Amino acid sequence: MTFGIQRLGPADLGLLLDLQEKIHAAQPDPDTFQRSTPEFLAYCLADGGRCYRAVHGDETVAYRIVYFPRERPFNLAIDTTVPTAQYGTVAHFDTIGVLPDWRGHGLARRLNSRALTDLADTGTRHILATSAPTNPYGVRALAEAGSRAIGVVEKFGGKLRLLFYRPYPQAWPAAPATGAQPVAAARRHVALVDTAALVDAFRQGWVGAGVRFAASGAADLRMVRSCLPVSLRTYD
Ligand SMILES: CC(C)(COP(=O)(O)OP(=O)(O)OC[C@H]1O[C@@H](n2cnc3c(N)ncnc32)[C@H](O)[C@@H]1OP(=O)(O)O)[C@@H](O)C(=O)NCCC(=O)NCCS
Repeated sequence: MTFGIQRLGPADLGLLLDLQEKIHAAQPDPDTFQRSTPEFLAYCLADGGRCYRAVHGDETVAYRIVYFPRERPFNLAIDTTVPTAQYGTVAHFDTIGVLPDWRGHGLARRLNSRALTDLADTGTRHILATSAPTNPYGVRALAEAGSRAIGVVEKFGGKLRLLFYRPYPQAWPAAPATGAQPVAAARRHVALVDTAALVDAFRQGWVGAGVRFAASGAADLRMVRSCLPVSLRTYD
């Protein structure tokens, strides 16, 4: 099946609003998909971000929003050790959505790949994103784009979210060998629904690198040991 990936502009606000309503309405747990205001989308469609769609024939079937938070208070960097002087080099991987009938064609991967390539001329050095831990498909899409879950934060009025980070443009550094222990052994799985266990694992220095689905439909975060150029900011 053939899909095209296209950059959107200010004239496409209505299209994005329509898509996000359809995807939100189909979400089993609506709390896991945060809708954006028309003002925010208009800002991203102008010079505040980059927006993309996937098309099949005449139909728009998926979208991805990238947002440049710059010095705005929403900058997710405030939850991390990214130096304040570098806040202007942060890009957020904001919302992504594929209409239900079009899932399973790797469209999140394709949209993310195009968005990553296009960041080359923006001066971006840090990519941040959040996902509800109870949205394993959203978590997997971010991990496949090279991001790692580095902690749990509260966003959107108290909702728990995994915070994701990847450096840009370089890929995430490979996990170092730890002494005599084989690297393959430095891996564990934590249920995405078990927030306390996730928080505990992050505190112990694990980061989330992927998702493992069980036949039952349950999903675990695949966690690895990794060098962290950036980590969650702690206030204690
Ligand atoms: C996250 C999302 C964009 C990924 O979609 P995608 O790119 O089509 O995913 P993939 O192509 O990697 O799909 C791989 C498999 O997972 C399945 N899958 C993907 N998303 C799914 C979902 N939300 N529910 C159930 N199954 C899903 C696909 O059907 C496919 O199954 P198959 O291998 O049997 O064909 C999509 O799940 C989505 O739009 N979710 C709703 C919006 C959302 O939660 N966004 C993230 C927060 S902003």
